[in-house]
Amino acid sequence: MSLTLAFDVYGTLIDTNNVVSKLREYVGDQAEAFSQTWRDKQLEYSFRRGLMQQYEHFGICTSHALDYTCLHYKADLSALQRESLLACYRTLPAFSDVVYGLKALKSAGHRLFAFSNGNMAAVEGLLIAADIRDFFSGVVSVDTIKTFKPNPATYEHFLSTSDSTVDNAWLISSNPFDVIGAVSAGMRAAWVKRSENAIFDPWGVEPTCVVANLSELEAGLKTKA
Ligand code: 2OP
Repeated sequence: MSLTLAFDVYGTLIDTNNVVSKLREYVGDQAEAFSQTWRDKQLEYSFRRGLMQQYEHFGICTSHALDYTCLHYKADLSALQRESLLACYRTLPAFSDVVYGLKALKSAGHRLFAFSNGNMAAVEGLLIAADIRDFFSGVVSVDTIKTFKPNPATYEHFLSTSDSTVDNAWLISSNPFDVIGAVSAGMRAAWVKRSENAIFDPWGVEPTCVVANLSELEAGLKTKA
């Protein structure tokens, strides 16, 4: 059965942690921790802006989260250094399993979409830079409706934009908040558990299936068809 698959972008297709090598130049051995704090704060800012209904696009959350993280680690980065980190964030690589996985899913006849908090220009730029844009029938950004995941309106926006329904569309995401949001909105969702240590929030809302990478996805979809 041909499905419509909504791929989350940051952390699912694109490795946000790849900014660590550039960070090492600026903050040395704090780079890993700095990168994680930056990502966590970026998401926190999107959640807060969504709840406050004070929407600014995801790039603003990313930039403000970088400023917060510099304060947190007392890293006095220049404007030029911050801009170079943000430039890195705009051209991050895809995970090593992504091309093979997307190829197999496209060959199986599924329609693939990128579905992200990132605004259209940022997501298009990321996919083109990572050389995976051609796998997707389209890009759906929450920026169109000026709110963020996991607002149920974002999943409804995906379904209406991709002309799909909860019966034939899945969310594919490595972010538990996104998977719980999609399942709570009535969709099926695959959690891409990219690390053995990754924890799924103990809310009693479970992923429809769990895979370790995109290469396992076709089999995962079949078991829950
Ligand atoms: C996304 O790409 C933030 O990972 C999330 O929408």
